[in-house]
Amino acid sequence: MGQPNKEYTKRVVIAANRLPIRVEKNEGQLEVAPAAGGVATGLSAFHRYKKSLWVGWPGTEPADTKEKTEIEELLSRDYNCLPVFLNAHELDKYYYGFSNRALWPLFHYFPHYSSYNALDWETYQQVNQKFCRKLLEVLHQDDLVWIHDYQLLLLPEMLRQEMPSATIGFFLHIPFPSMEIFRCLPWRAEILQGMLGADLIGFHTYDYTRHFFSSVLRILGKEQIYGKINLGNRMVKIDTFPMGIDSERYSGAVETPPVKKERALLRQELPVEKIILSVDRLDISKGILERLMAFERFLDKHPEWHERITYVLLCVPSRTEIREYRQLKSEIEELVGKINGRFEIPGWLPVLYMFRSLSFEKLVALYSEADLALVTPIRDGMNLVAKEYLACQSRAGKGVLVLSETAGSAAELGESIIVNPNNIDSITGAIVEGLSIPEEEKKAAIDNMFERIRKYNVYRWAEDFMANLEQAQELRDTSRKFFLKGESRAKLQAEYQQASNRLLLLDYDGTLVSLQKRPGQVRPDREVLQILSLLNADPKNKVVLISGRDRNYLSGWLSETGVDMVAEHGTWIYKSAQGKWSLLERGLSDDWKASVYPMLETFTDRTPGSLIEEKSYALAWHYRQAVPELGELRAKELVDMLRSILTGTDLQVLLGNKVVEIKPAVISKGKASHCWLEKVDSRDFILAVGDDWTDEDMFEVLPQNAWKIKVGFSSYTGARWFLESPGDVTGLLKSLAAR
Ligand code: UDP
Ligand code: G6P
Repeated sequence: MGQPNKEYTKRVVIAANRLPIRVEKNEGQLEVAPAAGGVATGLSAFHRYKKSLWVGWPGTEPADTKEKTEIEELLSRDYNCLPVFLNAHELDKYYYGFSNRALWPLFHYFPHYSSYNALDWETYQQVNQKFCRKLLEVLHQDDLVWIHDYQLLLLPEMLRQEMPSATIGFFLHIPFPSMEIFRCLPWRAEILQGMLGADLIGFHTYDYTRHFFSSVLRILGKEQIYGKINLGNRMVKIDTFPMGIDSERYSGAVETPPVKKERALLRQELPVEKIILSVDRLDISKGILERLMAFERFLDKHPEWHERITYVLLCVPSRTEIREYRQLKSEIEELVGKINGRFEIPGWLPVLYMFRSLSFEKLVALYSEADLALVTPIRDGMNLVAKEYLACQSRAGKGVLVLSETAGSAAELGESIIVNPNNIDSITGAIVEGLSIPEEEKKAAIDNMFERIRKYNVYRWAEDFMANLEQAQELRDTSRKFFLKGESRAKLQAEYQQASNRLLLLDYDGTLVSLQKRPGQVRPDREVLQILSLLNADPKNKVVLISGRDRNYLSGWLSETGVDMVAEHGTWIYKSAQGKWSLLERGLSDDWKASVYPMLETFTDRTPGSLIEEKSYALAWHYRQAVPELGELRAKELVDMLRSILTGTDLQVLLGNKVVEIKPAVISKGKASHCWLEKVDSRDFILAVGDDWTDEDMFEVLPQNAWKIKVGFSSYTGARWFLESPGDVTGLLKSLAAR
C-alpha cells in the first residue's frame, strides 16, 4: 500500500479539530461516518498505518454521561481516537466563530468576509486550552505530538508551557497569507506566539513559509536564519512539506469490482461523450460560482458540445450554519437551475449537481470516468482532490486536470492546465483546450504528475515531517545542555566563591539591558546599578563594563557603580582608580568622518527609521526602527560600498545587530580585554558575558578556563554557555553578588 519503510518507535499523538470520523445519532443508535475535508481524509491513512492516537472533536454532543462513555469507548476501541467534546456555545464561538468566520476567510484572502469578535476569540483560547488539557491526560514524555491546522493555532505554546520538554510539531493545512493580510487580525501576535510553541512548523508551499517568516519578522521582530527562528531559549524550525495522498489506495481501486459497478451505473445515468467533474466542500474559497459561469460561457460559445457533455458538480456539505455558506449554496443552486433551464433538452442534463457526501467507491468511479477535472479554487492550501483525480486517472489514462494557480498543489502539478480562477474566460478556454488535447499528450502529463504523487505520497510526507521533528527535538535537547542551569550554574557559583581574584567582563546592550529601538532609551534600572555596585564593592572582584557605546553614555549611566569601563569597542578605557577616560591607542584620527558621514546621511534619508550615531572615533548607522527587510537590504548595500571605498585604510566596517559601524581596525573588545587580563592568572575566576558579534573578539582572547557566556542561543559563537535573556544575566550576577 505504499507505506514508508521507516518504523518509528515513538508514539505519534495527533491533535486536530476534527477526528477522522464523525459520530452521528440515528434513531438513538450511534453511527460512524468518515469526516469530510483534506485533513481528515489525508491524515487518516497515516493514522491507520501508524496506529497513532488522534485527539479531536467527534462532531456530536453526547446527550448524557452514559452516551459520552459509550462514544469514548467506541472511538478508543475501534479507531484509536480520543474525543474532545464541544458544547453548543463552544461550537458557535470557537468553530463557526473564530475559526471559520475570522481565520478561514482571512487566511484565504477574503478579509471582507472576516469578522472579529472578542467573545469568539476568548472561546477560541478556551477550547485550545481544553485540547491542551485533554492531551496532558494522555501524553508521555517521549511521544511525538503533531498538531494540525488553524483551529488549534494556540495549542503548541499552551502545551509547551505545561510540558516544556514535549516534542511538538505543527502543520498548517490552509494558506498562510501575506503579512499585509495577516496583520489585519487583531490578535496576530498571540497567534504567532501560539504557533511558535512548536519545535517544527510545516506549510504546504514555500510561499506560505516565506509569508510566515515575514509576519514573524514584522510583528514579533524575530528573524529567521537558515529556516530557523531563534527564540533565545530554543530554535523553531520552519519548513515546506507538500501533503500527499494515499495514491495507491485510489489508483488501486479503479478496477475493483465495486468501483467498476459504480462506473457502469454512472455511465448509464450519463450517456454523454464527455464528463467534466468538480469535487469540493461547499466553501467560499473554492470558486464554485466562477466555475459554473465558465461552463455556461462554454455552452454559449460551443453549441457543438450540446448534448455531448455533462458537468458533474459535487458539493460536499460544510459549515452550513454560516450565513455566507448558506447564501453561496442558494447562489450555486440558482445558477445551476439557470444553466439547466437555458440548455437542458430531454435526454441531456448539462449540469448534474449533488449536495452530499459520496462513498469512496462512488467517488473513485467519478474520478475515473471524468474526462476533465475542474479544480479552480480561488485559494486553497493544497487541494487533495486534484491529486486523487490524477491517481485514478493513472489507471483510466484519459483525463485532463484544470488547476487554479492559487491552489497549493499547483506548485507540484505543472503539467496541468493552470488557470487564474477569477478569470472566467481563462477557465472556459481551459475547458476547450482540455477537450482537444491528443490522447498521448494527456497520458504523458498524467504519468509525469502521478509519478510525483506516487513518490511523495502521504506516508512519505508524514515520514519526512516526523524525521524533521525528531531532528528539531534533538537540536533542542543538545542546545539545552549548554544553557547555564542546574549543575553548570552551581559549578560556576562554586568556582566564583572559591576564587580570591576574579575578573568580570560584561557587555552592556543586549546583555545587562534589553535592546531598544533607540540607543538613548537603554538606561540601566535601579536593580542593575545595585548589582554592579555590590559586585564592585567586593575587593576580590574587578568588574569591567565592556561596550561599543560612546563614553558619555557610559559615564552618565554607570560611573556611580565604580566599575571600570570600555567605550567604543575598546577605543576608550576608564579605570575607576584613575577616574578618567584614556585612549587605548595613540594616534587615532577622525579625519575620515567628514567623507563617510555624508554617505550615511544619504542612507538615512533613503531608509525611514534609521539614524546616525556619532562617537569620537567611530560612526554607527542604526536601522532597528526601519522596515526590517529594507533595513537589511540597505545595510548590505552600505557595507559593500564602505568596504570597497575603505579598502587599504585602517578602518573596519562591521555589520552588527541592526547597526553598521565604522571604527579603527586596531580597536576591538579583545584588545581592550588585555588591559585587565594581564593581571589575572590561570587560577583566577574569569567570567565574560556578551550577546553580539563584537563580543566574539572578547571571547577569543580569554583563557580556556574562562566562563564565556552568550545571551540567546546561537550555533556560531566562541562562547561555551548560554543564558536566555538579560534578565537571566542579572539573575546570575545577583546570585554571585550575594555570595
Ligand atoms: N471528499 C469527501 N467526501 C466526498 C467527496 C470528497 O470526504 O463526498 C474528500 C476528498 O476525497 C478529499 C477531501 O474531501 O480528500 C477534500 O480535500 P481538499 O484538500 O481537496 O479540500 P478541503 O476540503 O480540505 O478544503
Ligand atoms: C479544510 C481544513 C480542515 C477542515 C476541513 C473540513 O480541509 O483545512 O481543517 O477539517 O476543511 O472542514 P470542517 O469545518 O468541516 O472541519
